[in-house]
Amino acid sequence: MRILLTGGCGFIGSAVVRYLIEHTAHHVLNVDCMTYAASAENLSDIASNARYTHALIDIRNGGALRQVFDEYQPEAVMHLAAESHVDRSIDGPDAFVQTNVMGTYTLLEAARGYWHALSVEKKEAFRFLHISTDEVFGHLSKEDPPFTEATPYDPRSPYSATKAASDHLVRAWHSTYGMPTFVTNTTNNYGPRHFPEKLVPLMIIKALKRERLPVYGQGQNIRDWLYVEDHAEALVRAVERGVPGQTYAIGARQPHTNLDVVRKICAIVDELRPDHLEPRERLIDFVSDRPGHDFRYEIDPSHAERSLDWTATHSLDAGLRKTVQWYIDHQSWWQMIMDQRYNGQRLGKGS
Ligand code: NAD
Ligand code: TYD
Repeated sequence: MRILLTGGCGFIGSAVVRYLIEHTAHHVLNVDCMTYAASAENLSDIASNARYTHALIDIRNGGALRQVFDEYQPEAVMHLAAESHVDRSIDGPDAFVQTNVMGTYTLLEAARGYWHALSVEKKEAFRFLHISTDEVFGHLSKEDPPFTEATPYDPRSPYSATKAASDHLVRAWHSTYGMPTFVTNTTNNYGPRHFPEKLVPLMIIKALKRERLPVYGQGQNIRDWLYVEDHAEALVRAVERGVPGQTYAIGARQPHTNLDVVRKICAIVDELRPDHLEPRERLIDFVSDRPGHDFRYEIDPSHAERSLDWTATHSLDAGLRKTVQWYIDHQSWWQMIMDQRYNGQRLGKGS
């Protein structure tokens, strides 16, 4: 397939592009306008592959998108480009509305114009996969059953509200125009190349540097942690086998409290970077909570596992070990980001 993928220089997008180039025969056109969250280095190992091309285009630019659809003639779209960080959405929701809502709308319209002009056969085979989050479902208490594809939407942060809006648009383009769209809703990812404003990479880097580890509230919030390469494999299965109109809720069956995750990271860093100082766990600092902090996310991935013939293979311990090792081996990657684009402090809040 010729796949037009958006957001390929980000964390998950780069894992999907790498998976497509290394494990399939598909061709990829990566549409990414390189926001603060993108790194060209994320794809440096496959950038010269003949099946890979990058187009520096903002998904809000309908004219540029129409041109790229006409020239590339994609058989599928994988839409990952988004503003993705909850804390940033609290401090400045505008970019989230612009990219996640208007950008998705603009992409859908460019795709619809292109799709409409295809032959009947190509029209039927075309796929538009929208990659979304489980945060659109709101949050769970300790006793609630995990989210499924049937859980009603109840987004609570500007980030999740804009992702929910984009999901609704994508589904409406299927029911109204018959476009072969479908949606995946996934739990928290972690792994190599994760931008260091998110919990896992931030804690690894701070633990390596022996800085205080800012855990919001009491660290009792629960997330279901999916290793990014497992997610990339699921998304490629989805674009190959997914049924238009369907939703696939993708999770790892690895729910843990934030405190548990941070303690595991500390223990792995202590083991891989031993010194004679106190255990890194003592660096944990309970700081003021995120406003409207969602308590628990967890997905029941049974439907996706059955339909896509896929399960997450990494336990949290195995995935964290690989992740910590990657950050130890790639200090120049995160050091450059910390120096130039992001100073590692909680956005606009202090701690
Ligand atoms: P990221 O922030 O690491 O990367 C986003 C990428 O999109 C960047 O390369 C950026 O340059 C690009 N981009 C942003 N705005 C753009 C625009 N207007 N035009 C073109 N490109 C633009 O994000 P991520 O963590 O890799 O997440 C990818 C997708 O997966 C997002 O849609 C996110 O909502 C979804 N998701 C993420 C997680 C997670 O845990 N990170 C979990 C579930 C779903
Ligand atoms: P994050 O990685 O921002 O993902 P999300 O908000 O999309 O789940 O945060 C994961 C969890 O970790 C979330 O409950 C907030 C918490 N957290 C901290 O305790 N400290 C931090 O410095 C960060 C960034 C997050």
